[in-house]
Formats: sequence, structure tokens, C-alpha cells
Amino acid sequence: MSRAIEDLPTPAVLVDLDVLERNIARQSERARAAGVRLRPHAKTHKCPEIARMQLAAGAAGISLAKTSEAEVFAAAGFDDIFLAYPVVGLGKPERLLALSDKLRLAVGVDSVEGARNLSEAFRAARRRVDVLLKIDCGYHRIGVLPLDAGRIARAVADLPGVTLRGIFTHAGHAYQAESPAAVAEIGRQEGEILSVIAGALSREGIPIEEVSVGSTPTARHAMPVAGVTECRPGNYVFHDGSQVALGTCAAEDCAMTILATVVSVPARDRAVVDAGSKTLSQDTLRPRPDGHGSILGTASRLVSLSEEHGVARVKEGDSFRVGDRVRILPNHACVVSNLHDRLYGVRAGSIETEFRVAARGKVE
Ligand SMILES: Cc1ncc(COP(=O)(O)O)c(C=O)c1O
Repeated sequence: MSRAIEDLPTPAVLVDLDVLERNIARQSERARAAGVRLRPHAKTHKCPEIARMQLAAGAAGISLAKTSEAEVFAAAGFDDIFLAYPVVGLGKPERLLALSDKLRLAVGVDSVEGARNLSEAFRAARRRVDVLLKIDCGYHRIGVLPLDAGRIARAVADLPGVTLRGIFTHAGHAYQAESPAAVAEIGRQEGEILSVIAGALSREGIPIEEVSVGSTPTARHAMPVAGVTECRPGNYVFHDGSQVALGTCAAEDCAMTILATVVSVPARDRAVVDAGSKTLSQDTLRPRPDGHGSILGTASRLVSLSEEHGVARVKEGDSFRVGDRVRILPNHACVVSNLHDRLYGVRAGSIETEFRVAARGKVE
């Protein structure tokens, strides 16, 4: 039986199903047109049901970051997972070994030490695991510098128990880009840097089967670069305020909103909703910080958050009363999912389905 949105207690995370389906279809179509496999990053939603929609639309598998996320998705029947993260740490190789019994697993590495950890566990079990070497294409978070790629790839490829399947990167610096043209340039470079490295490694006798790129802003620019085989955008299923600010999408392409109630209007220029940092996170708008979420249908934004309070500066022409229900466009959808047990899938004013955030809190 479907419920009306009006009957939901707040705060609640709503996902517009028409927009979600359209976002999934568009990205799949983009990958098909570019001739690359889509391996969406499921950390954005952490919901097996949404990942199944992505696979049904043509995705070749999923990406995740953490071992415990992969355990949840493995239990839900997913059989092809890339952990796009340098998995290092106590007990992790053993858990990866158990996972690789159940599914086709690949793991990110960005150091010989990290790869050796995996190598030792898999060799002792007389098994092998596929690894992809992370390249730093300019984000400067993790990943080996392009100049070091040959040396480190050789050392990893020579280890027993691991098979160097490919290389991967993530152009997270696109989130700081000043214009859509700058995002496009970062995306092209993301593809080209990886393609050049893959060619050089192959010429040195290290065959590179997978050349994996991907972020939501850069996906459309990196995918068509010759040599790229796979793309891993995540956020595109929902989009958010930052994607709108970056020019990745229009406001109507944002599937996720937060339904909240105005709990106080203590001054003419201030209204407070029941969604604070425990609902929205403290993530700022990118590329330039500008509050903590916009209130849809108004010019007002949340300008500060405490745990349970979202404080809006009321712009001229807007007015809020205690008890009003509002919809907030979050700055960053991926962190919102991780703060909630369920997301409500809505269509035409009704709640059609609930997505359980099965991998919520799985950060090990
Ligand atoms: C390694 C890696 N791949 C893919 C993604 C997906 O990027 P986005 O969230 O921009 O879609 C991320 C996001 O953080 C990432 O860290």
C-alpha cells in the first residue's frame, strides 16, 4: 500500500524514482556510446536494490571502497566487485580471501607494501587476487605518480598471489574546478594520463587489461578517451547541490531531497528545521562553500548546522511558519545515505518503495 509523502515523519530522505531511473539510464547510455564498461561506485547509495537497477541498465559490476561494504553486497548476491581503495590493515587480506571465494573480486593497491600484504595471504592459500594500481592523475590524495607507475607496476606484477589486472584513477580535483570547461579538461586528462601509462606498461611487457577512470563530473569527458575500458561514477544516481554548482547537471536532475519540518522561526530572517549535521553531514558545497543546502522553491539556504538544527537565513520574499514542511537539496548526497537507515522512493506524491541502506556505517 503506498503512503503519501505528507504522512512521513521528518527528517526523511526522499528519492524521486523518475529522476533516479533517468540518471541511471543516461549514464549507462553514455558508457555504451563510448564503448566502455560502467562499474558504478555504490558507496553513493549503499543500497543493493539501487545497484541492481544499475546492473539491469547495463552496468558490468560495481565498485565499493571498503571490505565491510563488499561483504554486505556479496551477501546480497553481487558477484563482481572492485574495491577501488588501497585495502590495507589487520585481518583485511583474510576477509578478501573469503570474499574471493564467492565472487569475482579486484582490489586497489597504490604501494608495493600494500600489494605484498595481499600477496602473502593469497599465496599462502594457493590463490590469486586481481589488483589494479591506483594512479594519481592530479587529485593528490592517493595513487602513485605517473613517473613512478612503471617501477611500482613491475614490482606488483612480479609478486606471487596477485595479478595486476589494470590501473585506475579518480579525478576528485574536478570538484574544485572553476568552470565546466575546466572540469572537461580535467576529465580528458584523467583518461589520457591513464591511457598513456597503460600503453607504456604494455610496451614494457606488463599487459594492462583494465583502464578504469571515473567521477561524476568527469565521467562524460574521460570515458570517450581512446584506451579507457571502464568508468566508475557514483554520485550520478542522485546528483546533489554540488553537481548543480559544478554544471554537471540541472536542478531537476537531482533525485535526492531531504524532507524536513520548520521547528522554530525565532527571527524574521531566521528559520530552523529539524535536519542538522546528523541528517545532512557538514560537507560544504563544492566547488565554493555556500551553506549547507538550499530550500527548494525558495531563495533561502541553510547557513549553519548543529547536530539536530539546520539554520536557514530567510531571504527577502520568503516566509516560513513553524510546522511548515520543506524540501532541502543536500550539498553531498553520498554522505547523506550513510546517515540514514532507509531512503524513501517517491513518485507522483506517493512513497512507492523503501530502499534499505544495507551497507550504512560499513567503513571497515
Ligand atoms: C576511487 C573512486 N572512484 C570513483 C568515485 C566516484 O566518484 P563520484 O562520487 O564523483 O561519482 C570515487 C568517489 O569518491 C572514488 O573515490
